[in-house]
Order: sequence, then C-alpha cells, then structure tokens
Amino acid sequence: MKIIRMHPSGKELTVEEGESVLGTLERNGFALPNNCRAGACGECRCKVLSGDFDQGLVMDMALSEEDRAEGYGLMCMAKQTSAVLEIEFGTEDAKPKLFPPRENVYCVVVDKFPRTPSIVELRLRPLGAPLRFWPGQYVTLGDRSAGIPERCYSIANIPNRENEIVLQVTRVPEGVTSTWIHDTLREGDNVVINGPYGTFIGDPSVETPVLCLASGSGLAPILSLTSAAFLRGGFRQPATILYSARSRDEVYETGLFAYLKARFRMFNFRYTLTREVNPGGLTGRLPGLLPELFPDLSGYSVYIAGSPGFVDDCAERALDLGLPPIRLHKEGFVAQRGPEIPSPERLMG
Ligand SMILES: Cc1cc2nc3c(=O)[nH]c(=O)nc-3n(C[C@H](O)[C@H](O)[C@H](O)COP(=O)(O)OP(=O)(O)OC[C@H]3O[C@@H](n4cnc5c(N)ncnc54)[C@H](O)[C@@H]3O)c2cc1C
Ligand code: FES
Repeated sequence: MKIIRMHPSGKELTVEEGESVLGTLERNGFALPNNCRAGACGECRCKVLSGDFDQGLVMDMALSEEDRAEGYGLMCMAKQTSAVLEIEFGTEDAKPKLFPPRENVYCVVVDKFPRTPSIVELRLRPLGAPLRFWPGQYVTLGDRSAGIPERCYSIANIPNRENEIVLQVTRVPEGVTSTWIHDTLREGDNVVINGPYGTFIGDPSVETPVLCLASGSGLAPILSLTSAAFLRGGFRQPATILYSARSRDEVYETGLFAYLKARFRMFNFRYTLTREVNPGGLTGRLPGLLPELFPDLSGYSVYIAGSPGFVDDCAERALDLGLPPIRLHKEGFVAQRGPEIPSPERLMG
C-alpha cells in the first residue's frame, strides 16, 4: 500500500493503483490548484519533501531544471514509486473542501446550439447520480474510443434540479476535441465526462468589490460564479464583469447581464471589442484599458478566465494596480495537447 503524507498537517492518504498524486488528493477532496492536467501549465507544482515519484512527460516551461533540482514536481503527472511520498501541501489542519471527482459519468447531450459564430453551448444530463460540483469548476470531455482526447471545459451553470451541466466551447482551428464537439457531436448523443476538477472557486459577492475579466468562452466559469452569487442573494458590494471579444457577434449573454444590471444597482457588465470599433463603448484589449477603468484595485477581488495570454496579461496589470495576490483568482484555458515527441527518424535527422 502506498501513502501520501501531507506536510505540515501529517495527514495521510492511501494511493489507488495508477493514480497521480493530484488524483489521490482530489479523490479525498483536497484542493491542489490545477489547470491543464497534462503537465503543461505548472499550476499543480508542489514540493516533494521525501520519497520517490515518476514525473512522467511534462513541459520544460511548466517545470524547470531548477524546480526539479529543488524537489518540485507537477502533481497532475506525478506517480509515486516509493511506499511513502511526503509533499508540502495544505495547512496545519488541512481539511478537504472539494467534491471527489468521478470518472466516466455517462451523459446525454440534451441540447446543443451556437452561442456565437465560434462558441457552441452543450447541455449535458448525467444518466446516473447528479454530478456535484462547485461553481467555477471544470470537467473533461472527449471520446477515448474514437481517439478524441479528453479536454477541460468549465461548467457555465450552477447545480440545478435537472442536474444539467452546461459547457461553452470555442472552436480552435485544427483543435481535435473542439472541432469534434462543433462538427460531430449531436443532440441525443451519449458522452462521457470526468470531474469536477479545479479550484477556480470563490464568491464574487464577497466582502470586497469584485472585478471579473473574461475573454471568449472564459465567460463560462464567470457565469457559473455569477449565477451562484445571484442565488445567494445578489451583490452587496460592487461587482463588474468586463468581457473581451473580437467582434460584436462574439458577445453573448447580454440579456442575462441586462437583467442583472436592472435588478442589482451594484452589478455592472461591459464589453470591449479587440478587432472592431465599439461605437460608444470600449475598444481594445482589456489589460490596456484597466488602468483607466480601475486605477486602484487594492481593495478588490479579481477573477480572470480565458486564453492563457489574456489571463497572464490581465493578472500582471491587476497586480500593478495594487491587487493583493491573495485576492487574484485565475483560470487560464491552457492547451492540453502534450509535448510532441520527435519520431526516431526525426531524431536521427
Ligand atoms: C481548466 C481549463 C478550462 C477550460 N475551459 C474551457 C471552456 O470552458 N471552453 C473552451 O472552449 N475551452 C476551454 N478550455 C480549453 C480546452 O480545454 C481545450 O484546450 C481547447 O478546446 C482546445 O482543444 P482541442 O483539442 O480542440 O485543440 P488541440 O488539439 O489541443 O490544439 C490544437 C492547436 O491549437 C492550439 N490551441 C489550443 N487551444 C487553443 C486556444 N484556446 N486558442 C488558440 N489556440 C489553441 C494548440 O496549441 C494546438 O497547436 C479549458 C482549458 C482548461 C485548462
Ligand atoms: S501542469 Fe499539472 S495541472 Fe497543469
């Protein structure tokens, strides 16, 4: 039997056959931040204090040689090889807070429709027990039997009576799974999802003012967090969603946001267009607009979701504007296509 021991709590978890370290933590409800689940983003980086593990194939930019030398590993790909693995994770009284993820949750696609020219919405209904999740988390979707790799997709809604899971998927040119979702998947099809995963959770109606920044289908987890705040009674502090789209036809959910604006004085939604002029509104990339719109973020909580470049640029700017790092929450939609392994022919030139 293999054991993971968490430092400083000393809490021990039993490892199941073939499980990654992240998998063991999640199965027990512990929230180690993770993003790509494929060794590409570095989000699940953790210090290993003792014991051995097989790191598997990960990107150098996610785990540098110096990191490795200092004992860090990427827990989404790390498989323990020694009887005990001691990792630096959690607090003295480490307590689980997530729902353990489930594998192979069979669902039917009950609805599929375009949200914008490049974003399609899927509504999935599990055939068995409802999937329990926290707003802001994500699932993976693919079709192993058809060779379609599983990719991460944020849940755009909140737990509901129909147990439906809403996903909003952007078509990525030459992207294997997103193209399959757009072009092949049909209403009435059976699909298999896994999850929930991720730690982009929180309460955008908290005691501080909130700023949410999203680009493209990065609006999905923000919608989930916003709906949860609405259900809890609305926004007692100012809450603003700033959305970035290339063109006007890529802006969606304007009806819901108009309703929230009319209902809650504290709520605001604005969008900017990056590839066309937005008459009377914002034009240009959000990181460039932020200093004028929010010159002082020191009292705010900020949630950012979307493409990795967008998230990183916005996060950097928000920190420059005084946002305390502890109140920065990010979900970068990092690509999960693994590092390419050169063929023996290519290696030999
Ligand atoms: C935590 C998390 C949550 C996510 N949530 C969502 C979501 O709600 N909706 C959603 O649409 N996507 C989401 N993604 C992204 C998603 O998981 C896939 O990466 C995306 O759908 C591309 O997969 P693919 O198989 O189609 O492309 P791949 O076959 O993986 O990639 C094809 C090529 O496109 C590039 N590429 C991959 N993704 C992008 C991109 N976004 N923009 C530009 N080029 C890209 C790759 O580098 C590669 O060269 C999320 C990712 C993460 C990590
Ligand atoms: S490197 Fe582990 S979650 Fe991305």
